[in-house]
Amino acid sequence: MSDGLVVVGGSYAGLQVAASAREFGYSEPIRLIAGEPVLPYQRPPLSKGYLTGKTTPAMLPLRGEAFYRDAAIDVELGRHALRIDPHSRTVELSDGRSVRFDKLVLATGARPRPLPVPGGDLAGVVALRSLADADQLRALAAEAKRVVVIGGGFIGLEVASALVSAERSVTVVEAAGRLMARAVPPVLSEFFADLHQARGVRLKLGCGVTALRSVQGRVTEVLCADGTSEPADLVVVGIGVVPNVELAQDLGLACDDGILVDGCARTTAPGVFAAGDCARQPHPHVASPTVRLESVQNAIEQGKAAASVLAGSPAANGAVPWFWSDQYDVKLQMAGLPQGSDRVAVRGAVEEGKFSVFHFRAGRLVGVDSVNRPAEHMLARKLLAAGVALTPEQAADTAFDLRGALAASAEASP
Ligand code: NAI
Repeated sequence: MSDGLVVVGGSYAGLQVAASAREFGYSEPIRLIAGEPVLPYQRPPLSKGYLTGKTTPAMLPLRGEAFYRDAAIDVELGRHALRIDPHSRTVELSDGRSVRFDKLVLATGARPRPLPVPGGDLAGVVALRSLADADQLRALAAEAKRVVVIGGGFIGLEVASALVSAERSVTVVEAAGRLMARAVPPVLSEFFADLHQARGVRLKLGCGVTALRSVQGRVTEVLCADGTSEPADLVVVGIGVVPNVELAQDLGLACDDGILVDGCARTTAPGVFAAGDCARQPHPHVASPTVRLESVQNAIEQGKAAASVLAGSPAANGAVPWFWSDQYDVKLQMAGLPQGSDRVAVRGAVEEGKFSVFHFRAGRLVGVDSVNRPAEHMLARKLLAAGVALTPEQAADTAFDLRGALAASAEASP
């Protein structure tokens, strides 16, 4: 028996590598260095139902204890990997022990980008990534009246929706001129801006933050670049994430805003893999040479790709990327990666809150964002996977049969 597999990072990607490696027939020892003191858990509810109380702690674990026992996956809870020695192939743990490995997976994730202004680390200023962060935010929100959310991206808007629904006064301060600009087109930014304002959230768009003020070490005020200020007894910061690449850099692995991997999650060192938010990969559904994807779906697909290599039958990650966000009773589902699209077509009625935005690049369908149209989202994933030829006019025409186009494309391909 070899020293087996050591997985650093116990979230979606790390767990998936371990689980799929076993499923695909890898029979050497597997050790999962989980970092956090609890078994791997679902993160998406932390900015949604967990804040409102709809999702309870018992609903969060991805797998029960029996799963790890039955699959012979040794989980190290509450321990971090401090250093990795590539020569002796050992990982030094935060409890002083060292563990040896034959194969290594870095599934180290990402951390919230810190707010780069004076007062960014005051008491009452929180980010949201982990269960511990969510528990802290819940406790602070229970006492808070005036909440300022910095960043109008996914975290910021999901938190705003949960807290304004819980009768808090909520202001979102976003540096860009529109909401979720990294991920969605203007028509969706406007739709969500109207939605949040109708529910009572105040929006300050195109507004940077210069400093946070405090009284006795606790935040009391957010100072904005336009000279205005917002009173606050709780500040939630959601201004993006930074990939955790330090262990990879110490190992001498190639990194560039993420650990560079191939389609099978292999890094530049033999027997060392990286998967999830920390990894940057080539992807058949992406226009740029490489991409770092921050999503549950990608963590799972990359985890499976790494496991396929470990089990001796490499299968690259080529799945259509998808992603979702819940804000109030509105479900936004995104399929494909429309970055760089040059034309969009809207299908359905924006004013009724049920529509999809189809993105085209050089005449090719590259992404579909659906609002409260779950069946269309599922269909979009299939259209993108099959590379179905579609024009913007057809996409915008609700009488045009998308299912028929998919079926015709399947018949036409050999
Ligand atoms: P994000 O990239 O979605 O949004 C960050 C926002 O902050 C951007 O709109 C940006 O313009 C703004 N910003 C940056 N610096 C700022 C500043 N100094 N002042 C004001 N605004 C500023 O990142 P976010 O929301 O922090 O999310 C973090 C991660 O969590 C992402 O990977 C996201 O995909 C993931 N996530 C996933 C969810 C889901 O599955 N639905 C829900 C929430 C988060």
